Amino acid sequence: MSLSLLTAQYFQQLDPHLLTFPEDKHLLHPTTQETIYNTLFSESHAANEQPLPPPAYRTRVLKRLITKLESLLSNPEEDEINESLLEEYSTLLTLPKPSSIEQAQQLTYITYTAPPEEDDHNSSPSLSETNKRRTILTSESRSAIITAGTTGHRTWEAALHLATYLSSTTAGKAHIAGKKVLELGAGTGMVSMFCARYLQPEVVVATDRELGLMRQIRDCAERNGLVGEGNGGGVFKGWIWEWGRELSRGSGEDDDDDDDDDDDDDELEKVGDGEKVEFDVALGADLIYDIDLVPLLVQTVKSLFEKYAVKEFLISATLRNERTFGAFLDACGA
Ligand SMILES: C[S@@+](CC[C@H](N)C(=O)[O-])C[C@H]1O[C@@H](n2cnc3c(N)ncnc32)[C@H](O)[C@@H]1O
Repeated sequence: MSLSLLTAQYFQQLDPHLLTFPEDKHLLHPTTQETIYNTLFSESHAANEQPLPPPAYRTRVLKRLITKLESLLSNPEEDEINESLLEEYSTLLTLPKPSSIEQAQQLTYITYTAPPEEDDHNSSPSLSETNKRRTILTSESRSAIITAGTTGHRTWEAALHLATYLSSTTAGKAHIAGKKVLELGAGTGMVSMFCARYLQPEVVVATDRELGLMRQIRDCAERNGLVGEGNGGGVFKGWIWEWGRELSRGSGEDDDDDDDDDDDDDELEKVGDGEKVEFDVALGADLIYDIDLVPLLVQTVKSLFEKYAVKEFLISATLRNERTFGAFLDACGA
């Protein structure tokens, strides 16, 4: 049976209570349990060689799974819980438990899986399903709202909505295919990296003002196969850019020829000193959260249309505060 939904949710580190386990009769089946162990918990068999979630998360998932399995055991002759799952749970319980603050601030790799494309909805799951999964890996402090002075160290719901629209609908894909794309306040870079990897743009530039974020994006771009040739390699760049400043092609783009860490940082800091650039589309997710930033954001977007040839701006927002959102609409002249 297909475990693709559970696998996608697990590597995205969804709260264990929200995970979709197989139906009870399938879950008790030894083959299902073995597949769950191999795919989700075994270092050597992990699906697509994605990094496993941190031990604290794996422990919580296993606790829930084993509790569920125990409640299903009715025939002592036949029903059993997979030994590897039980052993893994015992091993995890012996590991030192990080404090909740440590857990919140810990950087961890998250794998996002795009929903099926519109034309895939009718096709049945096949053996090659895992090969067709469109995934992007990010590095995040998952449970902290602000880490190292920025809200960008986690992927916000608005970014998930934007990526879902762009990746799964014909209209969404048309915004990106063949286009020069710029993302403002990219945070973890998930949306930009997804576009570069799967949606055939001419180029995608993820920007943010935080050097720390750009370092994470650079590491993840490499892990997502966006450095080098093929699969979107070469079309993805990460630039440091603060709204209100000139945006230009500088040496901070993601050149793969500088291999020294210090040099990388120097290069990133120099963005903005070079030749002028133009884009077709600008993207932004969860940028309307601070009323004081709204005028600068709107002015920046305006300048993208006036000075950088941008023809459309797609923004995805979470409505947290009516006043802040109203200020954004007012500033846009809506
Ligand atoms: C709430 S996060 C959203 C991150 C990402 N777009 C997402 O939705 O997951 C806001 C992002 O905007 C960036 N940001 C805020 N003010 C900025 C500015 N003046 N210039 C450039 N980036 C800025 C922050 O560093 C942060 O990464």
